Amino acid sequence: MSIRVSLARFLLQLGDFVQSLAVVVMKPDDLIEFSRQTYDKPQNVEGWAEDDLVDSGLSEDELDLLAALPNTTGDLLLLGVGGGREAIALARMGFHVTGVDYVAAMVDRARENAARRGVSIEGLVQEISRLEVQEGAYDVVWISRSMYSCVPTRARRVEMVRRIARALRPGGYFLCQFYWDPRFRSTGMGELLRRVVAACTLGNLAHEAGDMLWGKIEFIHAFASEETIVSELEGGGLSVVSLQTDQASIRGGAVCRKNLEIDQNPLS
Ligand SMILES: C[S@@+](CC[C@H](N)C(=O)[O-])C[C@H]1O[C@@H](n2cnc3c(N)ncnc32)[C@H](O)[C@@H]1O
Repeated sequence: MSIRVSLARFLLQLGDFVQSLAVVVMKPDDLIEFSRQTYDKPQNVEGWAEDDLVDSGLSEDELDLLAALPNTTGDLLLLGVGGGREAIALARMGFHVTGVDYVAAMVDRARENAARRGVSIEGLVQEISRLEVQEGAYDVVWISRSMYSCVPTRARRVEMVRRIARALRPGGYFLCQFYWDPRFRSTGMGELLRRVVAACTLGNLAHEAGDMLWGKIEFIHAFASEETIVSELEGGGLSVVSLQTDQASIRGGAVCRKNLEIDQNPLS
C-alpha cells in the first residue's frame, strides 16, 4: 500500500480519536448541560413535538415492557417526556401521567399536544438524575428510548435509581430502556489515553468505557454486559424482574420492581 494512503488512514483515525476526547474533558454536570443545550434548540423541540412523531404512539419494544404490568392504570412518572409521544399513548390507556423534562419548552409542547388530543397530563421541569418528587407517589416510572443511558457516571445513575425507588409505591414498577452495545466490552490503548486526558484536564474522572457523545449531540453510556446494568438497578434498591437484550439491537430493556414492604408489626 502507498505510504500516502497509510498516512491518510492514520490521520483519519487520529481525527476520530481526537474527537472522542470531547467526552472526557467535560465533568458530569457539563455532560448533562451539553445534552440539554442540544435538546433546548427550537428545531429539536419542534422535531420531538411534531404531529407525525407524537401520533406514532408506542413502539413494539415499549409495548413489550408494558406487557409486564398487571394493569394500565395508576400514577405514572415519565422521565424525558419530549413532545408527549408516549405520555399521550399512556394517558389514553388509563394512566395518570406526569412527564418530566429539563427543557421547559418540551414540557409545554407535551401538555399542549395532549390537550389538543383530548387528554390531560401533568408536567415537571427537572433534570432526571436529580429527581425531586413526592415519596411513594407513583405506581410506575417510565424511561424509554435508551434515555437511562443519558446520565453520566455509574454513581449518578445509581443515585437516580435510588430517587426513582423512593418515588415508587411499594410493589411499583420501573420500566427502563438503555443503550446496549456489547462491543464496548473491550478496553484498549484509546481507552487508557482517554482516562489520562480526563485526569490531565480534571474532566470526567469517572469516565467509563462505553461513554460517548452520540451523533456529537448528546451524552450516552453504552452498556456492554447484563451484569453492569443489573448491578446499577439493584444498587439503587430495585429488583430486576426481567431484562431484554439482543445482539442485533442497540436498545435494551429492563422491568424492575420496588419490593413490597412487609409490615413488621401488623397488629399495631
Ligand atoms: C430522545 S428524546 C425522547 C422524547 C420522548 N420520550 C419520545 O420518545 O418521544 C429525550 C427527551 O429527554 C429529555 N432529557 C434528556 N436528558 C434529560 C435529563 N438528564 N433530564 C431531563 N430530561 C432529559 C430531552 O430534553 C428530550 O425531551
